[in-house]
Amino acid sequence: MNDHSLIQAAKNAMTHAWAPYSGFMVGAALLAQDGRVFTGCNIENASFSVTACAERTALFKAVSEGCRSFTALAVVGGKGGVCDDFAWPCGACRQALSEFCGESFRVLLWKDDGTVKICTLGELLPGTFHLK
Ligand code: THU
Repeated sequence: MNDHSLIQAAKNAMTHAWAPYSGFMVGAALLAQDGRVFTGCNIENASFSVTACAERTALFKAVSEGCRSFTALAVVGGKGGVCDDFAWPCGACRQALSEFCGESFRVLLWKDDGTVKICTLGELLPGTFHLK
């Protein structure tokens, strides 16, 4: 799976977003070491704090199916599904990813003008907390 296909999978997942409160739709696609791709979207709730982010939806789907090794994550998002800026993973999602992904894990962001930003989890979450 190349970067372009992973981003495409995230864009497709975004179409499933349930975001009636914020209107902000997010899609994520998580590439496993074995080549499998787990996708996720944000799932909002009338009790706002119950909302699930797209990245954690994808991560929890993967881990709950026994997959724990990952190489990359693509994230796209925007109001009404218009991706006019990069959709950066929130702090909670960065922390959740750090449980299973190392500092060289790649995060790919995309926006509608075709720009791709590639960074690592180490850049997004320096000084990661570990119980070691
Ligand atoms: N959201 C995500 O899905 N991922 C993030 O990393 C940040 C925020 C969602 C949650 C909520 O449904 C909407 O974006 C607005 O915060």
